[in-house]
Amino acid sequence: MKALVYHGPGQKVWEHVPDPKIIDPTDVIVQVDITTICGTDLHILKGDVPAVTDGRILGHEGVGTITEVGQAVSKLAVGDRVIISCVTSCGSCSYCHQHLPAHCLDDEGTSGIGWIFGHLIDGTQAEYVRVPFAENSLHKMPEGVSDEAAVMLSDILPTGFEIGVRNGRVEPGDVVAVIGAGPVGLSAMMTAGLYGASRIIAIDLDDNRVQQAKGFGATDGVNSGDAGWQDEVLAMTDGLGVDVAIEAVGMPATFLMATELIRPGGTVANVGVHGKSVELKLQDLWIKDIAITTGLVSATTTPMLLRLVAQGKLTPEKFVSHRFTFEAIIDAYDTFGRAAETKALKVAITR
Ligand SMILES: NC(=O)c1ccc[n+]([C@@H]2O[C@H](COP(=O)([O-])OP(=O)(O)OC[C@H]3O[C@@H](n4cnc5c(N)ncnc54)[C@H](O)[C@@H]3O)[C@@H](O)[C@H]2O)c1
Ligand SMILES: [Zn+2]
Ligand SMILES: [Zn+2]
Repeated sequence: MKALVYHGPGQKVWEHVPDPKIIDPTDVIVQVDITTICGTDLHILKGDVPAVTDGRILGHEGVGTITEVGQAVSKLAVGDRVIISCVTSCGSCSYCHQHLPAHCLDDEGTSGIGWIFGHLIDGTQAEYVRVPFAENSLHKMPEGVSDEAAVMLSDILPTGFEIGVRNGRVEPGDVVAVIGAGPVGLSAMMTAGLYGASRIIAIDLDDNRVQQAKGFGATDGVNSGDAGWQDEVLAMTDGLGVDVAIEAVGMPATFLMATELIRPGGTVANVGVHGKSVELKLQDLWIKDIAITTGLVSATTTPMLLRLVAQGKLTPEKFVSHRFTFEAIIDAYDTFGRAAETKALKVAITR
């Protein structure tokens, strides 16, 4: 088969590799019908994720068709169409029992992290992929859901919902600020309405993204490059601050922004992946009764989100801004990697 193989920082090749094989009886093999690229893949290519080594097939998002099942697999069959979750879960370790498969302990001997595709094992940017713990890690595609909608349920939609909206404890009537209107921030905006937020404020430096956010559930938009942006946000509240501030960038400055916008008693939900140490101004924050949450997506809400997609209540297919075939995956990376110029949100890569 052919796959996108990582060969060290800055190096990736679409090349021939051996077909994946069933290793454990709980595995299945999936022929990938559609995959996409995540910002995390760009981090890996920069060399920011040293656990990813030369020869690794990238990708942790995808929808496909099962072509082979292991001996212990009874609930899935050849021909089933499935969504591949970015997090695999053994289903039996203590973290899986606590509904935290993000920290699944039984991930092929490399304990403590459920995100292994395109990281610790070969991923989904390939014609075929081996899926371990398949019955716990795949979701059957319901009728009437498009591949382009479904592939957003592998990672970005559960991330925005679980780590942004749910950790942020959004309640009816809340004013929610989302800092960062990339695919993950937009996913938080798209799902904040599920809990009845009264206002959802998109904050970004990129005017195009602030504008785009209105199509993803944002009621208001603010460019944080403008002088007085903070007053603009406060004017959208009762003057005391937002109830929930979701950080979806991953920079010290944007985390600080979240802690400055929050009202006493509010919640700052950090979603961004931080590479640098971040200042926490506890001397100002302790008296505000705020909560700060962090998290790695577990993707346990994918079945619920899928029901909403099937009912037309969520329409994540609108994330797809560009389309490519597997043979053009290098062009897909180029377009996605220059998102500010190309206005790319998510690229669909199909066979
Ligand atoms: N916690 C998790 O489980 C998890 C899972 C997936 C992704 N993530 C992280 O979520 C974050 C967002 O992911 P994404 O794919 O949407 O990223 P992205 O890079 O596409 O989007 C980030 C957005 O932030 C904006 N931005 C940058 N600097 C800013 C600033 N100073 N002020 C305001 N806006 C600014 C950019 O213009 C961009 O629109 C990343 O850090 C990613 O690694 C976390
Ligand atoms: Zn991802
Ligand atoms: Zn587990």
